[in-house]
Amino acid sequence: MSDPTDLEIPGHVTLAQGEGGLPKVVVETAWSNAEIYLHGAHVTGFQKKGEPPLLFMSAASEFAPGKPIRGGIPVIFPWFGAREGSPAHGSARITAWELKETALLPNGAVELRFSLPGAEGCHVEFLVTVAESLTLELAVENTGDRDSAFETCLHTYFQISGIDAVSITGLAGTRYQDKVAGTTETETAAAIRISGEVDRVYFDTTATTEIEDPGYGRKIRIAKSSSNSTVVWNPWIAKSKRMPDFGDDEYPQMVCVESGNVAQNQTTLPPGGHAVMKVEISSMRLLS
Ligand code: BG6
Repeated sequence: MSDPTDLEIPGHVTLAQGEGGLPKVVVETAWSNAEIYLHGAHVTGFQKKGEPPLLFMSAASEFAPGKPIRGGIPVIFPWFGAREGSPAHGSARITAWELKETALLPNGAVELRFSLPGAEGCHVEFLVTVAESLTLELAVENTGDRDSAFETCLHTYFQISGIDAVSITGLAGTRYQDKVAGTTETETAAAIRISGEVDRVYFDTTATTEIEDPGYGRKIRIAKSSSNSTVVWNPWIAKSKRMPDFGDDEYPQMVCVESGNVAQNQTTLPPGGHAVMKVEISSMRLLS
């Protein structure tokens, strides 16, 4: 295997030792900086200059082989949610990915290409582009000789000024599974506000969503393509206490707005088939 330090770009891409001794890639651009662990190809930080971090990271997160990182952007593949006898949310987030390529583009953006080793019957790559915005592309190719069905999700934890202050738009009129109530509903709110445990899978939606956060004076925009599900999650009080790798008092500082293809929106590829889910996360000042 080639030495990943060959992929360093002076002033822009550095390989470093992260928490728990796990290797991470540190990225610097004119607009922003970012950090990506090879463990899970997990983006643990993206921050625009002069703005609070965009991604929430739990202070209680583990950083260890075989354990998921809590916060940032877990890459969920090949299944979403719990599965008897297998790791929750699939194996991709607890596997060490390989950094294959780095590039400094003429416009100053930095591109990193990761590949998932050992994925049976498929080839999985994750392209991360760090610039004024953060762009993520999860590409899966079916290299087997039969149809392949799988779920994908970029389980993004956003850092917010306070859960009481924020609202989420873009999902009105969309059907969703309410995993807390165990029901299926249609979203009625033009701007969703969270005041208790929320665990919702919205189906058949490619809509751009926005998180408006007056406390930070910013709006976060999540634009996506080839993603038909959006998940909104906040564990609130009791569930936070049950999660060993999440602080009891951290739930007001985060909200997950996740882009994926899960459950009825899972992807099925014929042999040789190829699917690319793309998500662009950007932020802007809120006009006061
Ligand atoms: C969300 C799920 O996407 O992830 C929730 O909808 C789940 O049901 C949450 O609790 C966190 O999952 P995990 O495995 O990272 O604790």
